[in-house]
Amino acid sequence: MLDSFDFDLSEEQRLVRQTAKDFAASEVAPLARKVDHEHYFPKELIPKLSSLGFMGVFTPEAYGGAELDYVSYGVVVEELARMCASTSVIVSAHNSLCIWPILAFGTEEQKKKYLPKLASGEYLGCFALSEPGTGSDAARQTCSSVKEGTSWRINGVKNWITNGPEADICVLFTMEKPELKHKGINCFIIEMKNHEGVSTGKKEDKLGICGSPTSNISFEDTLVGDEQLLGAPGDGFKIAMSTLDGGRIGIACQAVGIARAALEDSVAYAQERKAFGQPIGKFQSIQNYIADMSCRIDAARLLALAAAKRKDAGVPYGREAAQAKLFASEMSVDCALKGIQIHGGYGYVKEFNVERYLRDAKITEIYEGTSEIQRLVIAGHLFKA
Ligand code: CAA
Repeated sequence: MLDSFDFDLSEEQRLVRQTAKDFAASEVAPLARKVDHEHYFPKELIPKLSSLGFMGVFTPEAYGGAELDYVSYGVVVEELARMCASTSVIVSAHNSLCIWPILAFGTEEQKKKYLPKLASGEYLGCFALSEPGTGSDAARQTCSSVKEGTSWRINGVKNWITNGPEADICVLFTMEKPELKHKGINCFIIEMKNHEGVSTGKKEDKLGICGSPTSNISFEDTLVGDEQLLGAPGDGFKIAMSTLDGGRIGIACQAVGIARAALEDSVAYAQERKAFGQPIGKFQSIQNYIADMSCRIDAARLLALAAAKRKDAGVPYGREAAQAKLFASEMSVDCALKGIQIHGGYGYVKEFNVERYLRDAKITEIYEGTSEIQRLVIAGHLFKA
Protein backbone atom coordinates (compact mmCIF):
# COMPACT_ATOMS: atom_id res chain seq x y z
CA MET A 1 0.00 0.00 0.00
CA LEU A 2 2.66 2.49 1.03
CA ASP A 3 5.38 1.59 -1.41
CA SER A 4 3.85 3.06 -4.54
CA PHE A 5 6.62 5.64 -4.95
CA ASP A 6 8.66 3.22 -6.91
CA PHE A 7 11.12 5.31 -8.93
CA ASP A 8 9.76 4.13 -12.24
CA LEU A 9 11.05 0.61 -11.79
CA SER A 10 11.41 -1.60 -14.86
CA GLU A 11 9.27 -4.69 -15.27
CA GLU A 12 12.13 -6.86 -14.02
CA GLN A 13 12.81 -4.61 -11.01
CA ARG A 14 9.11 -4.70 -10.08
CA LEU A 15 9.16 -8.47 -10.26
CA VAL A 16 12.23 -8.56 -8.02
CA ARG A 17 10.49 -6.25 -5.57
CA GLN A 18 7.35 -8.37 -5.51
CA THR A 19 9.41 -11.54 -5.03
CA ALA A 20 11.36 -9.95 -2.17
CA LYS A 21 8.18 -8.58 -0.62
CA ASP A 22 6.39 -11.94 -0.75
CA PHE A 23 9.44 -13.72 0.64
CA ALA A 24 9.85 -11.17 3.42
CA ALA A 25 6.19 -11.53 4.39
CA SER A 26 6.09 -15.34 4.29
CA GLU A 27 9.57 -16.33 5.53
CA VAL A 28 11.29 -13.37 7.19
CA ALA A 29 8.46 -11.77 9.16
CA PRO A 30 7.56 -14.91 11.16
CA LEU A 31 11.13 -15.11 12.46
CA ALA A 32 11.67 -11.40 13.13
CA ARG A 33 10.67 -11.34 16.80
CA LYS A 34 12.76 -14.41 17.61
CA VAL A 35 15.69 -12.89 15.73
CA ASP A 36 15.40 -9.73 17.82
CA HIS A 37 14.45 -11.10 21.24
CA GLU A 38 16.77 -14.11 21.21
CA HIS A 39 19.57 -12.49 19.19
CA TYR A 40 19.01 -15.35 16.81
CA PHE A 41 21.01 -15.64 13.58
CA PRO A 42 18.39 -16.79 11.02
CA LYS A 43 20.59 -19.38 9.33
CA GLU A 44 17.62 -21.25 7.87
CA LEU A 45 16.91 -18.21 5.68
CA ILE A 46 20.27 -18.35 3.88
CA PRO A 47 19.44 -21.24 1.48
CA LYS A 48 16.05 -19.68 0.76
CA LEU A 49 17.59 -16.27 0.14
CA SER A 50 20.13 -17.96 -2.14
CA SER A 51 17.48 -19.80 -4.12
CA LEU A 52 15.92 -16.41 -4.97
CA GLY A 53 19.30 -15.01 -5.98
CA PHE A 54 19.49 -12.63 -3.00
CA MET A 55 22.88 -13.86 -1.79
CA GLY A 56 24.36 -12.87 -5.14
CA VAL A 57 22.04 -10.14 -6.36
CA PHE A 58 24.43 -8.36 -8.72
CA THR A 59 26.93 -11.20 -9.10
CA PRO A 60 27.08 -12.16 -12.81
CA GLU A 61 25.42 -15.41 -13.84
CA ALA A 62 28.84 -16.64 -14.98
CA TYR A 63 29.81 -16.76 -11.29
CA GLY A 64 26.52 -18.22 -10.14
CA GLY A 65 24.72 -14.98 -9.29
CA ALA A 66 21.39 -13.44 -10.28
CA GLU A 67 23.07 -10.73 -12.40
CA LEU A 68 20.57 -8.07 -11.43
CA ASP A 69 21.37 -4.38 -11.17
CA TYR A 70 22.11 -2.27 -8.09
CA VAL A 71 18.61 -0.76 -8.10
CA SER A 72 17.26 -4.31 -7.70
CA TYR A 73 19.73 -4.87 -4.89
CA GLY A 74 18.44 -1.76 -3.11
CA VAL A 75 14.85 -2.86 -3.57
CA VAL A 76 15.62 -6.30 -2.09
CA VAL A 77 17.35 -4.78 0.94
CA GLU A 78 14.40 -2.44 1.58
CA GLU A 79 11.87 -5.26 1.41
CA LEU A 80 13.88 -7.47 3.78
CA ALA A 81 14.41 -4.55 6.19
CA ARG A 82 10.67 -3.84 6.19
CA MET A 83 10.25 -7.13 8.01
CA CYS A 84 13.62 -7.72 9.70
CA ALA A 85 16.53 -5.29 9.71
CA SER A 86 18.91 -7.99 10.96
CA THR A 87 18.21 -10.18 7.94
CA SER A 88 18.62 -7.23 5.60
CA VAL A 89 22.09 -6.34 6.89
CA ILE A 90 23.27 -9.96 6.81
CA VAL A 91 22.38 -9.87 3.10
CA SER A 92 23.69 -6.38 2.42
CA ALA A 93 27.09 -6.82 4.11
CA HIS A 94 27.53 -10.12 2.25
CA ASN A 95 26.62 -8.67 -1.17
CA SER A 96 27.99 -5.16 -1.10
CA LEU A 97 30.96 -5.41 1.27
CA CYS A 98 32.29 -8.86 0.43
CA ILE A 99 31.11 -9.87 -3.04
CA TRP A 100 31.37 -6.44 -4.64
CA PRO A 101 35.10 -5.79 -3.98
CA ILE A 102 35.98 -9.29 -5.19
CA LEU A 103 33.93 -8.67 -8.31
CA ALA A 104 35.43 -5.23 -8.89
CA PHE A 105 39.07 -5.88 -7.96
CA GLY A 106 39.56 -9.65 -8.02
CA THR A 107 41.55 -11.65 -10.52
CA GLU A 108 39.66 -14.10 -12.71
CA GLU A 109 41.01 -16.88 -10.53
CA GLN A 110 39.76 -15.22 -7.33
CA LYS A 111 36.34 -14.57 -8.84
CA LYS A 112 36.01 -18.17 -10.03
CA LYS A 113 37.15 -19.50 -6.68
CA TYR A 114 34.99 -17.39 -4.36
CA LEU A 115 32.01 -15.83 -6.11
CA PRO A 116 30.03 -19.00 -6.91
CA LYS A 117 30.25 -20.14 -3.28
CA LEU A 118 29.30 -16.70 -1.99
CA ALA A 119 26.44 -16.24 -4.44
CA SER A 120 25.04 -19.68 -3.63
CA GLY A 121 25.11 -18.93 0.10
CA GLU A 122 27.52 -21.80 0.75
CA TYR A 123 29.91 -19.12 2.01
CA LEU A 124 28.91 -16.08 4.04
CA GLY A 125 31.01 -12.95 3.58
CA CYS A 126 32.18 -10.09 5.77
CA PHE A 127 34.31 -6.94 5.51
CA ALA A 128 36.96 -6.08 8.07
CA LEU A 129 38.14 -2.48 8.10
CA SER A 130 37.36 -1.05 11.58
CA GLU A 131 39.66 -1.78 14.50
CA PRO A 132 39.32 -1.22 18.24
CA GLY A 133 41.15 2.12 17.86
CA THR A 134 40.32 2.88 14.21
CA GLY A 135 36.78 3.68 13.07
CA SER A 136 36.05 6.88 11.18
CA ASP A 137 39.75 7.52 10.52
CA ALA A 138 39.95 4.43 8.37
CA ALA A 139 43.39 5.20 6.93
CA ARG A 140 44.96 4.67 10.36
CA GLN A 141 45.09 0.87 10.09
CA THR A 142 47.23 -0.99 12.63
CA CYS A 143 46.49 -4.60 11.69
CA SER A 144 49.70 -5.42 9.85
CA SER A 145 50.68 -7.47 6.83
CA VAL A 146 54.36 -8.28 6.40
CA LYS A 147 55.68 -9.83 3.20
CA GLU A 148 57.65 -13.06 3.68
CA GLY A 149 58.69 -14.51 0.33
CA THR A 150 55.48 -15.34 -1.49
CA SER A 151 53.43 -15.18 1.70
CA TRP A 152 52.09 -12.51 4.02
CA ARG A 153 52.06 -12.64 7.82
CA ILE A 154 49.05 -10.85 9.32
CA ASN A 155 48.69 -9.63 12.91
CA GLY A 156 46.00 -7.48 14.48
CA VAL A 157 42.37 -7.17 15.54
CA LYS A 158 39.34 -6.01 13.58
CA ASN A 159 36.25 -4.75 15.36
CA TRP A 160 32.46 -4.56 14.83
CA ILE A 161 32.47 -7.05 11.98
CA THR A 162 28.98 -7.68 10.65
CA ASN A 163 28.58 -11.43 9.91
CA GLY A 164 31.97 -11.94 11.63
CA PRO A 165 31.02 -14.91 13.84
CA GLU A 166 29.41 -16.80 10.94
CA ALA A 167 31.56 -15.70 8.02
CA ASP A 168 33.55 -18.01 5.77
CA ILE A 169 35.21 -15.26 3.75
CA CYS A 170 36.55 -11.93 4.92
CA VAL A 171 37.68 -8.98 2.84
CA LEU A 172 40.43 -7.73 5.13
CA PHE A 173 42.38 -4.46 5.23
CA THR A 174 45.89 -4.29 6.68
CA MET A 175 48.74 -1.83 6.93
CA GLU A 176 52.00 -2.79 5.25
CA LYS A 177 53.80 0.56 4.99
CA PRO A 178 52.64 3.06 7.64
CA GLU A 179 55.03 5.69 6.30
CA LEU A 180 52.91 5.80 3.11
CA LYS A 181 49.73 6.37 5.16
CA HIS A 182 46.63 5.33 3.18
CA LYS A 183 48.81 4.27 0.25
CA GLY A 184 50.44 1.61 2.47
CA ILE A 185 47.21 -0.36 2.99
CA ASN A 186 46.66 -3.81 1.47
CA CYS A 187 43.49 -5.81 0.99
CA PHE A 188 43.23 -9.60 1.27
CA ILE A 189 40.61 -12.28 0.78
CA ILE A 190 40.81 -14.41 3.90
CA GLU A 191 39.30 -17.85 4.33
CA MET A 192 38.06 -17.79 7.90
CA LYS A 193 37.20 -21.38 8.78
CA ASN A 194 39.94 -23.73 9.99
CA HIS A 195 42.56 -21.11 9.24
CA GLU A 196 45.37 -21.16 11.75
CA GLY A 197 45.75 -17.78 13.42
CA VAL A 198 42.20 -16.59 12.64
CA SER A 199 39.69 -16.39 15.48
CA THR A 200 36.48 -14.52 16.19
CA GLY A 201 35.62 -12.92 19.53
CA LYS A 202 32.39 -13.03 21.49
CA LYS A 203 29.16 -12.14 19.74
CA GLU A 204 28.45 -8.48 20.59
CA ASP A 205 25.34 -7.85 22.68
CA LYS A 206 23.85 -5.01 20.67
CA LEU A 207 21.04 -2.48 21.12
CA GLY A 208 19.44 -3.36 17.78
CA ILE A 209 19.84 -5.56 14.68
CA CYS A 210 20.24 -8.24 17.34
CA GLY A 211 20.18 -11.23 14.98
CA SER A 212 22.91 -9.82 12.77
CA PRO A 213 25.99 -11.45 14.29
CA THR A 214 28.83 -9.04 15.08
CA SER A 215 32.22 -9.80 16.60
CA ASN A 216 35.83 -8.85 16.41
CA ILE A 217 38.24 -10.96 14.35
CA SER A 218 41.80 -11.59 15.53
CA PHE A 219 44.74 -12.43 13.32
CA GLU A 220 47.73 -13.93 15.06
CA ASP A 221 50.63 -14.74 12.76
CA THR A 222 48.08 -15.65 10.11
CA LEU A 223 49.81 -16.71 6.90
CA VAL A 224 48.30 -16.20 3.45
CA GLY A 225 49.77 -16.52 0.00
CA ASP A 226 50.20 -13.77 -2.59
CA GLU A 227 47.17 -15.12 -4.42
CA GLN A 228 44.96 -13.84 -1.57
CA LEU A 229 45.92 -10.23 -2.17
CA LEU A 230 42.94 -8.30 -3.61
CA GLY A 231 44.20 -5.62 -5.99
CA ALA A 232 47.83 -4.52 -5.91
CA PRO A 233 49.80 -3.80 -2.73
CA GLY A 234 48.80 -0.30 -1.58
CA ASP A 235 45.35 -0.43 -3.23
CA GLY A 236 43.58 -1.27 0.03
CA PHE A 237 42.28 2.18 0.97
CA LYS A 238 40.75 2.85 -2.42
CA ILE A 239 39.17 -0.61 -2.40
CA ALA A 240 37.70 0.08 1.06
CA MET A 241 36.38 3.52 0.15
CA SER A 242 34.83 2.51 -3.15
CA THR A 243 33.29 -0.57 -1.54
CA LEU A 244 31.74 1.61 1.15
CA ASP A 245 30.29 3.95 -1.49
CA GLY A 246 28.14 1.05 -2.70
CA GLY A 247 27.52 -0.32 0.78
CA ARG A 248 26.07 3.01 1.87
CA ILE A 249 23.33 2.71 -0.76
CA GLY A 250 22.34 -0.60 0.85
CA ILE A 251 22.25 0.97 4.32
CA ALA A 252 20.09 3.80 2.98
CA CYS A 253 17.65 1.20 1.62
CA GLN A 254 17.74 -0.65 4.92
CA ALA A 255 16.86 2.60 6.72
CA VAL A 256 13.96 3.16 4.31
CA GLY A 257 12.65 -0.36 5.00
CA ILE A 258 12.76 0.16 8.77
CA ALA A 259 11.02 3.54 8.47
CA ARG A 260 8.35 2.02 6.24
CA ALA A 261 7.70 -0.59 8.90
CA ALA A 262 7.21 2.21 11.45
CA LEU A 263 4.84 4.03 9.11
CA GLU A 264 2.78 1.01 8.07
CA ASP A 265 2.38 -0.17 11.66
CA SER A 266 1.44 3.36 12.72
CA VAL A 267 -1.18 3.78 10.01
CA ALA A 268 -2.79 0.48 11.04
CA TYR A 269 -2.65 1.35 14.73
CA ALA A 270 -4.02 4.87 14.23
CA GLN A 271 -7.09 3.43 12.53
CA GLU A 272 -7.78 0.91 15.30
CA ARG A 273 -6.91 2.77 18.46
CA LYS A 274 -9.68 5.01 19.72
CA ALA A 275 -9.42 8.06 21.99
CA PHE A 276 -12.01 10.71 22.73
CA GLY A 277 -14.57 8.59 20.88
CA GLN A 278 -12.79 8.23 17.56
CA PRO A 279 -9.77 6.53 15.97
CA ILE A 280 -6.64 8.54 16.81
CA GLY A 281 -5.93 8.76 13.07
CA LYS A 282 -8.74 11.33 12.91
CA PHE A 283 -6.65 13.74 14.96
CA GLN A 284 -4.54 16.21 13.07
CA SER A 285 -1.49 15.69 15.29
CA ILE A 286 -1.37 12.03 14.28
CA GLN A 287 -2.09 12.86 10.64
CA ASN A 288 0.81 15.32 10.67
CA TYR A 289 3.17 12.66 11.96
CA ILE A 290 1.96 10.17 9.36
CA ALA A 291 2.19 12.66 6.49
CA ASP A 292 5.72 13.74 7.46
CA MET A 293 6.85 10.13 7.74
CA SER A 294 5.42 9.30 4.31
CA CYS A 295 7.07 12.30 2.58
CA ARG A 296 10.46 11.65 4.10
CA ILE A 297 10.40 7.91 3.38
CA ASP A 298 9.65 8.52 -0.29
CA ALA A 299 12.33 11.22 -0.47
CA ALA A 300 14.90 8.88 1.09
CA ARG A 301 13.98 6.06 -1.30
CA LEU A 302 14.39 8.43 -4.25
CA LEU A 303 17.85 9.44 -3.03
CA ALA A 304 18.88 5.82 -2.49
CA LEU A 305 17.61 4.53 -5.82
CA ALA A 306 19.00 7.56 -7.66
CA ALA A 307 22.43 6.71 -6.24
CA ALA A 308 21.92 3.06 -7.24
CA LYS A 309 20.91 4.12 -10.74
CA ARG A 310 24.08 6.17 -11.07
CA LYS A 311 26.10 3.17 -9.96
CA ASP A 312 24.34 1.02 -12.56
CA ALA A 313 25.06 3.68 -15.21
CA GLY A 314 28.77 3.69 -14.34
CA VAL A 315 28.86 7.37 -13.38
CA PRO A 316 30.27 8.69 -10.06
CA TYR A 317 27.93 8.11 -7.14
CA GLY A 318 29.98 8.66 -3.96
CA ARG A 319 28.29 11.91 -2.98
CA GLU A 320 24.85 10.60 -3.91
CA ALA A 321 25.42 7.44 -1.84
CA ALA A 322 26.57 9.46 1.17
CA GLN A 323 23.59 11.81 0.83
CA ALA A 324 21.19 8.88 0.61
CA LYS A 325 22.65 7.20 3.68
CA LEU A 326 22.76 10.42 5.70
CA PHE A 327 19.20 11.43 4.87
CA ALA A 328 17.70 7.94 5.08
CA SER A 329 19.32 7.00 8.39
CA GLU A 330 18.32 10.22 10.17
CA MET A 331 14.85 9.96 8.63
CA SER A 332 14.56 6.37 9.83
CA VAL A 333 15.37 7.21 13.44
CA ASP A 334 12.89 10.08 13.29
CA CYS A 335 10.15 7.86 11.79
CA ALA A 336 10.73 5.20 14.42
CA LEU A 337 10.43 7.84 17.16
CA LYS A 338 7.22 9.16 15.62
CA GLY A 339 5.93 5.59 15.35
CA ILE A 340 6.52 5.12 19.08
CA GLN A 341 4.79 8.42 19.84
CA ILE A 342 1.76 7.40 17.79
CA HIS A 343 1.58 4.09 19.65
CA GLY A 344 1.88 5.87 23.03
CA GLY A 345 2.57 3.46 25.89
CA TYR A 346 2.21 0.50 23.51
CA GLY A 347 5.10 1.91 21.52
CA TYR A 348 7.37 1.57 24.51
CA VAL A 349 6.84 -2.14 25.17
CA LYS A 350 8.12 -5.17 23.31
CA GLU A 351 4.63 -6.51 22.66
CA PHE A 352 4.58 -4.19 19.63
CA ASN A 353 7.33 -3.93 17.03
CA VAL A 354 7.87 -0.17 16.92
CA GLU A 355 10.40 -0.06 19.75
CA ARG A 356 12.49 -2.55 17.73
CA TYR A 357 12.38 -0.24 14.72
CA LEU A 358 13.99 2.52 16.77
CA ARG A 359 16.74 0.21 18.05
CA ASP A 360 17.31 -1.14 14.53
CA ALA A 361 17.23 2.29 12.88
CA LYS A 362 19.88 3.79 15.16
CA ILE A 363 22.74 1.71 13.77
CA THR A 364 22.12 3.05 10.26
CA GLU A 365 23.46 6.40 11.54
CA ILE A 366 26.65 4.67 12.67
CA TYR A 367 27.84 1.77 10.53
CA GLU A 368 29.41 2.07 7.09
CA GLY A 369 30.35 5.62 8.11
CA THR A 370 28.65 7.74 10.76
CA SER A 371 26.38 10.64 9.82
CA GLU A 372 29.26 12.96 10.67
CA ILE A 373 31.48 11.14 8.16
CA GLN A 374 28.74 11.25 5.50
CA ARG A 375 28.58 15.04 5.92
CA LEU A 376 32.34 15.19 5.58
CA VAL A 377 32.24 13.08 2.41
CA ILE A 378 29.43 15.17 0.88
CA ALA A 379 31.16 18.47 1.66
CA GLY A 380 34.45 17.02 0.37
CA HIS A 381 32.83 16.27 -3.00
CA LEU A 382 31.32 19.75 -3.21
CA PHE A 383 34.56 21.52 -2.37
CA LYS A 384 36.40 19.40 -4.94
CA ALA A 385 33.91 20.25 -7.68
N1 CAA B 1 36.62 5.92 -3.72
C1 CAA B 1 37.89 5.80 -4.19
N2 CAA B 1 38.92 6.49 -3.66
C2 CAA B 1 38.67 7.30 -2.63
C3 CAA B 1 37.39 7.47 -2.10
C4 CAA B 1 36.34 6.76 -2.70
N3 CAA B 1 35.07 6.85 -2.25
N4 CAA B 1 37.44 8.33 -1.07
C5 CAA B 1 38.71 8.71 -0.96
N5 CAA B 1 39.46 8.09 -1.90
C6 CAA B 1 40.88 8.25 -2.15
C7 CAA B 1 41.20 9.73 -2.41
O1 CAA B 1 41.04 10.03 -3.78
C8 CAA B 1 42.65 9.81 -1.98
O2 CAA B 1 43.45 9.26 -3.00
P1 CAA B 1 44.86 9.93 -3.43
O3 CAA B 1 45.75 9.88 -2.24
O4 CAA B 1 45.33 9.08 -4.57
O5 CAA B 1 44.56 11.34 -3.81
C9 CAA B 1 42.71 8.83 -0.82
O6 CAA B 1 41.61 7.94 -0.98
C10 CAA B 1 42.63 9.51 0.53
O7 CAA B 1 41.44 10.26 0.56
P2 CAA B 1 41.10 11.23 1.77
O8 CAA B 1 42.26 12.17 1.98
O9 CAA B 1 39.76 11.83 1.52
O10 CAA B 1 41.07 10.21 3.00
P3 CAA B 1 40.90 10.44 4.54
O11 CAA B 1 41.93 9.68 5.26
O12 CAA B 1 40.75 11.89 4.81
O13 CAA B 1 39.52 9.66 4.85
C11 CAA B 1 37.16 9.45 5.13
C12 CAA B 1 38.35 10.01 4.31
C13 CAA B 1 35.96 9.84 4.29
C14 CAA B 1 37.04 10.06 6.50
C15 CAA B 1 37.30 7.92 5.23
O14 CAA B 1 38.31 7.56 6.14
C16 CAA B 1 35.99 7.26 5.66
O15 CAA B 1 35.12 7.03 4.83
N6 CAA B 1 35.87 6.92 6.95
C17 CAA B 1 34.73 6.15 7.44
C18 CAA B 1 35.04 4.71 7.37
C19 CAA B 1 33.81 3.87 7.44
O16 CAA B 1 32.82 4.12 6.76
N7 CAA B 1 33.88 2.84 8.24
C20 CAA B 1 32.82 1.90 8.36
C21 CAA B 1 33.41 0.54 8.50
S1 CAA B 1 32.58 -0.70 7.66
C22 CAA B 1 31.37 -1.19 8.68
O17 CAA B 1 30.60 -0.42 9.17
C23 CAA B 1 31.45 -2.62 9.03
C24 CAA B 1 30.32 -3.46 8.83
O18 CAA B 1 30.51 -4.64 8.97
C25 CAA B 1 28.96 -2.98 8.47
